[in-house]
Formats: sequence, C-alpha cells, structure tokens
Amino acid sequence: MKRFKIALIPGDGIGPEVVAEGTKVLKAIEQLDPTITFEFTEFPWGCEYYLETGKMMADDGIEQLKSFDAIYLGAVGYPGVPDHISLWDLLLRIRKEFDQYVNIRPITLLNPTLTPLKNKTREEIDFLVIRENSEGEYAGAGDWLYKGKPEEVVLQTGVFSRKGTERIIRYAYEEAQKSNRTLTSISKANALNYSMVFWDEVFEEVGLEYPDVQTYSYLVDAASLYFVAEPERFEVVVTSNLFGDILTDIGAAITGGMGLATGANVNPERKYPSMFEPVHGSAPDIAGKGIANPLAAIWSISQMMDFFGEEQWGKRILSTLELILTEKDNLTPDLGGTASTSELGERFIELLKSSD
Ligand code: NAI
Ligand code: MG
Repeated sequence: MKRFKIALIPGDGIGPEVVAEGTKVLKAIEQLDPTITFEFTEFPWGCEYYLETGKMMADDGIEQLKSFDAIYLGAVGYPGVPDHISLWDLLLRIRKEFDQYVNIRPITLLNPTLTPLKNKTREEIDFLVIRENSEGEYAGAGDWLYKGKPEEVVLQTGVFSRKGTERIIRYAYEEAQKSNRTLTSISKANALNYSMVFWDEVFEEVGLEYPDVQTYSYLVDAASLYFVAEPERFEVVVTSNLFGDILTDIGAAITGGMGLATGANVNPERKYPSMFEPVHGSAPDIAGKGIANPLAAIWSISQMMDFFGEEQWGKRILSTLELILTEKDNLTPDLGGTASTSELGERFIELLKSSD
C-alpha cells in the first residue's frame, strides 16, 4: 500500500473552491485504486490568516510542511493585503525554502475549440515549459534608496548562479532526452549583457553532454511571437524565472485561458516536498459565486500523480480532462458553459470513474 501525505493550502478567493474539487479527485483515486491512500492535512494560511495574525503562515510553517510528500495549493492574494506580501511570505517562501527550483508548465491544447488561434491543432500546440523557479529576476535582491526624495533610486537585481543556471538547464536537457523531444532555450543576451550571455553559455556547455538533443535558442521577444504565430516550433522550453512567468501566460491564452493552466513547483532531489497549484490567482472578481473553473486545479493533480510515479493516473486524469472538454454544457462560464464549480467537479469524477 502506497501512502502519500498531502498538505492542503486552499488559500484565498477561489483557491478553496477549486482545491475542494481537486481533493475530490484524489479521493476518487483512493477509491478506485486499492494500492493508493492519501492522508490530508489542511492549513488555514493566506490573507484571512494574515488579517488575523499579521502573518501569511505560521512561524514554523515551513517546519510543519517538511514531512509531506506534496503540497496542494489553491491561490493566494486578496484585496486588503498588498500582493507583494501575500506572494513573498507564503508562495515564494515555500518555493525557496523547499528549493523547488523547477517550475513545470504544460502548454497543451486539450481541445481544438479552446484556442483563439486560427487553424491550430492539438498536435501543433503541445509543449512543456520548464521555468527556473528559485533565483534569476525573482531573487528578491535589490535596494530602495532615498525613498520619496528627488534622488530616489530602486535596484532590482537578477541573480544567476552557476549552480542555479546549470541545474535548471540540465533538468530540461534530461526531460528532452528522455522524451525524445527538441529543447529550446529562451533568453535575451543582446540586451541583458551579463545574465543572459551567461545563460546562453551554460546552455551550450551543458548541451555538450546531450549531443542527441536537438536544440534551438531564441530571444524572448521573438519567442513571444512564435508562441502565438508558430507554437508548433516548441517541444520542451527552458527559460528564466521572469520570462517563464510571462511566456506561460501566453501559453495559457492559446490553450484555453487561466481556468486551464497548471504548474508544478518541483524539488527534483525530493529532499523537500514539491508543490502543485493552478497557475491562476484568487480571482476576487468571481470568488464566492461558485463559477470558478476547477480544471486547472484538477490538472495539477495529474502532475502530482506523475511526480509520485503513478503515471497511469496522471494520464487517466488528462484523458478525462480531454473528454469533459467536449461536453460544453457541463463546463463553467469561462469555457462557455453554465455549470457551477462543483457540478463540473462532480461530472469529472463520474467520467473518471467510468474511464479505464
Ligand atoms: P487571477 O488569475 O486571479 O484572475 C485573472 C482573471 O482570470 C480574472 O478575471 C478571473 O476571474 C479569471 N480567472 C482566474 N482563474 C479562473 C478560474 N479558475 N475560473 C474562471 N476564471 C478564472 O489574476 P489577478 O486578478 O491578476 O490576481 C488576483 C489575485 O490573485 C491577486 O491578489 C494576485 O496577487 C493573486 N495571484 C496569485 C497567484 C497564485 O497564488 N499563484 C497567481 C496569480 C495571482
Ligand atoms: Mg495558483
């Protein structure tokens, strides 16, 4: 019997609404698969917790999370708490303290009607973005000098260490090699004359160890154009923290929007728990209305199962997602349907149970 300990951090806004549906999927897997059990522990951290305690998570929160196999997070952020506080003190803290240096975001068109691009098929939009997740432009290094004075200066420094750059690029090469796909590096060495020149050099150096992997290298501005005009160019993509953040939103836009975008924050060495979450935020505009799309959060469960080595479940969730996306009436309003969050979640469970 395999037993996985899952920490639930539903967070704010629609976070709890979508995490509830994802948790139902885990419970369904537990029912259908006699070899798997889950143990859930829920943590109340987020903006409400902050308004009560002045903290986004408990002081020993990281310690409390250490023993889990995975963290399943909804979204954090809410009006009334500055976004840089909610992001840095919970989400980014977990990513950093647990050295979740790989952010894996599938850009896969699960149904051809979901893309605003003309004449693009599922085969043409099917790639994986591997984003550096621990340093780079989001290292948090900088200063704010002479605040409010005429000579005010702010510095936001990108930090690219050899260790950090090599390990993300190596991870991407491994992924491309093992799945027999091409690897594209996205950088900006013409303008960022230290960090991105270094990135490109490391990409070439590490590449010498993977002579069988076909590589491409694009500037981020050209790559943005290709994401829209020729997404078929990409199979596996590796890029820095900031570029990956922005590009994957384009990726979301061409595959069905925020309600379908998922991302895994992985510590490949498994020294610490990895974290699975939908890419979207807490969506205060629709929170509490019961219309949030839970499919991104459910896709995160597919990534979690893959990470646990239960790929048969990862695949089965993905094919159930494909199937449910053909049932327009059972989808939430963002996908043109009329179903509520829990109706869509229930229908998903039905389809999952009847698939095999
Ligand atoms: P958002 O992703 O929350 O919402 C953007 C738009 O997409 C909204 O119109 C929203 O209604 C829609 N949307 C998002 N998820 C949806 C879903 N599952 N179903 C249907 N529609 C959905 O981004 P926004 O508005 O920029 O940020 C709101 C808050 O969330 C902020 O406090 C922000 O800091 C936080 N945030 C948190 C993230 C996280 O926890 N990983 C990521 C992004 C934002
Ligand atoms: Mg999220």
